[in-house]
Amino acid sequence: MGATAHSSVFESKWWVSNERRWLEIAAHQREYFNRLADIFDVPQPEAVMDRLRRIVAASGLHRDDVVLDVGTGAGVLLPLIQSYRPSLVLACDLADQMLAHVHTKNPLVRVVQCDIVRLPLKAASVDIVFMNAMYGNIADKPAACANVASALKPRGRLIVSHPEGRGFVEKLRAAGDLFIESLPGRGEFQALVQPLGLKVVTYWDEPKLYLMVARKT
Ligand SMILES: C[S@@+](CC[C@H](N)C(=O)[O-])C[C@H]1O[C@@H](n2cnc3c(N)ncnc32)[C@H](O)[C@@H]1O
Repeated sequence: MGATAHSSVFESKWWVSNERRWLEIAAHQREYFNRLADIFDVPQPEAVMDRLRRIVAASGLHRDDVVLDVGTGAGVLLPLIQSYRPSLVLACDLADQMLAHVHTKNPLVRVVQCDIVRLPLKAASVDIVFMNAMYGNIADKPAACANVASALKPRGRLIVSHPEGRGFVEKLRAAGDLFIESLPGRGEFQALVQPLGLKVVTYWDEPKLYLMVARKT
């Protein structure tokens, strides 16, 4: 394809290579986390479970809400979410082996193997979206946030969290064999989600707990 034909179709020549890179990252994540499915599906220390409970409580989840757990992994958050008696819980992940564990242990949860960027969600259909211990792994964060922002109902919330804090993420980054980016500060995240109609309403950046709650206006 000549350069002229190319530029008549795409906004930028970089769009193509970015898209390819994001697909490669997603394929690598899927393979990497499929291998870890058994390792992830183990009881967590009580201190971690306490922080996960704080995360779910901070979402403001109510009975009969519709909830999406993005990058659910082995589903550590799901029993905590279900204790609030939501009407529907969806769990999406790239890694099908993780979802096999989730389906066996949580038959009422609807599991979907999909990149969150491409998950076909209806507009204004979801009350709460969790991204726990996985935000840094998302290759195309603007597209992921745009997809969930459009799916949120008015006053719906997006929760980005990590029960081990940003320092843990930095250690993983130093280890080097997985795509994982630093957790954003409040201002950086606000700048990303404001054009999508979300406003950061809660931000905790504690040594062992990171939490951002953004609410749809
Ligand atoms: C570190 S695990 C965390 C799992 C779980 N949320 C937890 O708290 O234990 C990250 C998970 O996110 C998934 N993931 C990464 N990027 C994703 C994406 N773009 N869309 C959906 N899932 C993704 C991975 O496959 C992996 O299972």
